[in-house]
Amino acid sequence: MAYETLIVEVENHVALIRLNRPDALNALNTQLLGELADALKSTEENDKVRCVVITGSEKAFAAGADIKEMAEKTFVEVFMSNLFGRETEQFLKCRKPIIAAVSGYALGGGCELAMMCDFIIASDTAKFGQPEINLGVVAGIGGSQRLTRFVGKSKAMDMNLTGRFMDAKEAERSGLVSRVVPAKKLLEEALSAAQKIAEKSMLTTAVVKEAVNRSYETTLSEGLLFERRLFHSLFASEDQKEGMAAFLEKREPQFRDK
Ligand code: CAA
Repeated sequence: MAYETLIVEVENHVALIRLNRPDALNALNTQLLGELADALKSTEENDKVRCVVITGSEKAFAAGADIKEMAEKTFVEVFMSNLFGRETEQFLKCRKPIIAAVSGYALGGGCELAMMCDFIIASDTAKFGQPEINLGVVAGIGGSQRLTRFVGKSKAMDMNLTGRFMDAKEAERSGLVSRVVPAKKLLEEALSAAQKIAEKSMLTTAVVKEAVNRSYETTLSEGLLFERRLFHSLFASEDQKEGMAAFLEKREPQFRDK
């Protein structure tokens, strides 16, 4: 399907989704969020796709929810349409790994969109922030919740209360992003990470996602039990037999997602 606010390419089992509203610094309007949900659903259903990369432009990953579109809405409108709840449901349904490749501004909903991905690779020009307070609102897609789990209370309070931006170095130091690379290398690095993931067993990558995500939802003892049971269950898979045999035979594994 052709999109107006996204460019989607699939190559070597990796879907690259580029947010494409350059005039609005990729601000997340209804159309973009709808198209993104649709693109994610399509990649989930496409057997050729094994990993997804979401990126923006060099200047902006996304400068937040679209303020022009939101400004005049009433409480009843945003509440009854479950604004940003409905539009972001698809992220929670994705079992394929999603990497955010962030350059430039990732603010408000942009930072939140990056945090909904499985991990973030940032360029050295990236700037993260939750400046909603300057607009008289609180974050609406996880900026007070996911960010707090990622960087801790003190920094999350600082970001949400002052609206200040965090540069790439601070974001890496704080655990918000997994790595920082020079801007020119961002896509190459993200696609190479996605390629590596695409070569694994998809059965195992889906299990790894479930295990790590569960750590945010449960106690340590329940999480450890959940992880151990997942570990045990993978011994019922052909890919476990293949992975371990390949190691012992000193060859590359041939996973079949079974
Ligand atoms: N919504 C709508 N349009 C936006 C936008 C946004 N979030 N961010 C930027 N734009 C538009 C600007 O209005 C401008 O359009 P026009 O040329 O038509 O005026 C265009 O993008 C370029 O922006 P600037 O001229 O402002 O560019 P700049 O380089 O001077 O500044 C910036 C860049 C610091 C990112 C600045 O644009 C900015 O502060 N943007 C808003 C950031 C923000 O507040 N984000 C939070 C949104 S609320 C939210 O996301 C809620 C939530 O949690 C779900």
